[in-house]
Amino acid sequence: DASDTEKGTYPHFMLKEIDEQPFVIRKIIQEYQDKNDTIKLDKDIRKAMKKSDRIYIIAAGTSYHAGLVGKQFIEQLANIPVEVHIASEFSYNMPLLSENPLFIFISQSGETADSRSVLVQTKALGHPALTLTNVPGSTLSREADYTLHLHAGPEIAVASTKAYTAQIAVLAILAVDSARAKGIDLSFDPLQELGIVSSAMETLTDQKEEFERIAKEMFETSRNAFYIGRGMDYFVVQEAALKLKEISYIQAEGFAGGELKHGTIALIEDGTPVIAISTQGNVNFSIRGNVQEVAARGANTCVVSMKGLENDSDQFVLPQVHELLTPLVSVVPMQLLSYYAALHRECDVDKPRNLAKSVTVE
Ligand code: AGP
Repeated sequence: DASDTEKGTYPHFMLKEIDEQPFVIRKIIQEYQDKNDTIKLDKDIRKAMKKSDRIYIIAAGTSYHAGLVGKQFIEQLANIPVEVHIASEFSYNMPLLSENPLFIFISQSGETADSRSVLVQTKALGHPALTLTNVPGSTLSREADYTLHLHAGPEIAVASTKAYTAQIAVLAILAVDSARAKGIDLSFDPLQELGIVSSAMETLTDQKEEFERIAKEMFETSRNAFYIGRGMDYFVVQEAALKLKEISYIQAEGFAGGELKHGTIALIEDGTPVIAISTQGNVNFSIRGNVQEVAARGANTCVVSMKGLENDSDQFVLPQVHELLTPLVSVVPMQLLSYYAALHRECDVDKPRNLAKSVTVE
């Protein structure tokens, strides 16, 4: 479809792809739903998941960040232990493998050389592999035993947005399917909950001016920025920082709130931007404590919280979704903040310097 690879009325592919996220989630619901409204998934994948005593997720960059969220789904819902590894580091620090490992490769392009080299290595050892990719027929898809398609449509901008949310959505479906295959009774219905996520995403993409304004307030003159979160939010702040770095060239890091006092807080000066995400009831109090600590040292703070956990002083309140699926919603403002920060700095949003869309060299 030609319209998929053209910008249309959008100034940049990145903005178009951010806007497509609610539709991608709906497409995933459609593709993974059978006639009885239950999950439709390749039986062989179901079997492979059920058989595995430990899952090793291998990925790079944004796909690695999606893997961190996926681990929570698979462990909490399907009760299978999961390790998440950066592809390029795997062979230097190869973990002791379990008896029946299953390797899950997460890759938008399916062409990432670092991930492929792990697949070659684990295949040689005789271990089964499943690839989650946006490009069926890609190298990682062809060389693995099984493929799950992300259905995100072509992602052209170098900064990955809709592939990240698609990866997390498909991982949630996979985790629930595996739980059910193991006879675990869950009240969590991912297809229904993803429907709620899709609408929530739409209300966010409809409020771009808000994020444009916050981006200006936070990043106009700054050369560095910090993102903090705890629990599930810690995974999203890592993705938020990567997004900001790669397109706006502002030096940024995502930290676990509790780690601040172990070193990072020394970097806080008057006006240092610190963005906190708070979507989890169990850490809402502690992350707000961290925000106060940095604010007391002069930081320019911004709290993005979830409805139900908000304070009057929060800069933005996200529509409520299931606690497990919050990354799908909290990442959208982070993508938009990065987009507008890059735009204000007149950076080449879709083609940041020194980067390629898919990294086909090790
Ligand atoms: C994301 O914004 C990056 N451009 C990059 O980190 C990317 O996610 C990484 O290179 C992995 O690519 P893949 O998903 O195609 O394997």
